[in-house]
Amino acid sequence: MADLRVIVDGLKLPNPFVIGSGPPGTNANVICKAFDEGWGAVIAKTISLDASKVINVAPRYARMRVGPKENQTIVGWQNIELISDRPFDTWIEEFKQVKQKYPDRVLIASIMEEYRKDAWIEIVERCQDAGVDAFELNFSCPHGLPERKMGAAMGQDCEVLGTVCGWVNAVARVPVWAKMTPNITHIEEPARAALRNGCEGIAAINTILCVMGIDLKTLRPEPTVEGYTTPGGYSCKAVRPIALRMVMECARMMKHEFPGRSISGIGGVETGEDAAQFILLGASTVQVCTGVMIHGYGMCKTLCDGLSAFMDRHGFKSIEDFRGHSLQYFTTHADLVQRQAQAKAAEKNAAKGMVTRDAAWSGDRFVEQSSKLVSNE
Ligand SMILES: Cc1cc2nc3c(=O)[nH]c(=O)nc-3n(C[C@H](O)[C@H](O)[C@H](O)COP(=O)(O)O)c2cc1C
Repeated sequence: MADLRVIVDGLKLPNPFVIGSGPPGTNANVICKAFDEGWGAVIAKTISLDASKVINVAPRYARMRVGPKENQTIVGWQNIELISDRPFDTWIEEFKQVKQKYPDRVLIASIMEEYRKDAWIEIVERCQDAGVDAFELNFSCPHGLPERKMGAAMGQDCEVLGTVCGWVNAVARVPVWAKMTPNITHIEEPARAALRNGCEGIAAINTILCVMGIDLKTLRPEPTVEGYTTPGGYSCKAVRPIALRMVMECARMMKHEFPGRSISGIGGVETGEDAAQFILLGASTVQVCTGVMIHGYGMCKTLCDGLSAFMDRHGFKSIEDFRGHSLQYFTTHADLVQRQAQAKAAEKNAAKGMVTRDAAWSGDRFVEQSSKLVSNE
């Protein structure tokens, strides 16, 4: 039987599954529910010192569904939700209560503040005095907060991000992860700035800035609030390939420049097999946010069963047995071309009916030829 336990940055988790910051970690009540259902750790909803500045709207979600009408699957989820609108003092009390009830479980505070040293120091010191086990710095919320130069606005500016990480790490006595925005061309750059300034790890990714769609009857964009909207953050299954790519890019950079630092993979995870892919790219833990909003807290058991079954199939006894294994298989396109030539793949593939030269595409067999070039089915 596979051992799912993880030790990351000194934190001991019964399994790698972590509640990602958002509605599933939005008060003590639901955080306790997550621990009861067996989640490895919980990252609470992002908090700031002055919640009175946070004003949410409703509705604030829009979903993308695919499949036949009677059996549709949710593949994409947009939100225009802000960080927590609950008072900071209430959160401090709840952190204490949760840690009293679950002293051995890992509770991580997600924090965000304006670009002021005293504010960051105060939020870190008060949360760690309340007993949280680690911090995740939210440099990545794509909507609402950037207008106050917070969230993704900080995450896209390596100098500002690095300075804030320096302030935080000067006072933090517990591990600190920096949560990256995907709304940037080279995610390794802010990741590098965070790690250079003392963070133990990075978390990637937050939501991708999006416009879900336009209602063709009303001609208004979704989610519609009094007839108007604002671009929001995209999550769920549809973002997983992008998240995997960004985790891979961070992992490759970190392997060379920051060996031993950690990655928490996030984006579209709903099964143990999804999680296995993030771990194969170097993640030690895997966060789930939207999946919990669709399937509920009980999905932790399915996640653990799926990951365990995958490990058993390969004979992996622990997470470390396969963490980062698949990174070695990424290369340049030029190298792929060279490898294929060397292996005389052209002839072999031709024998299997696979198109290797553009001239071989046929109008009559086009769909069959396309299908034969697919590798993951
Ligand atoms: C409704 C909603 C609210 C979120 N709020 C936060 C937040 O307060 N802080 C944060 O760091 N990320 C927040 N996120 C982002 C998630 O933690 C996660 O990074 C992202 O949704 C991708 O993962 P997923 O596909 O598992 O949801 C939120 C996501 C959703 C869907």
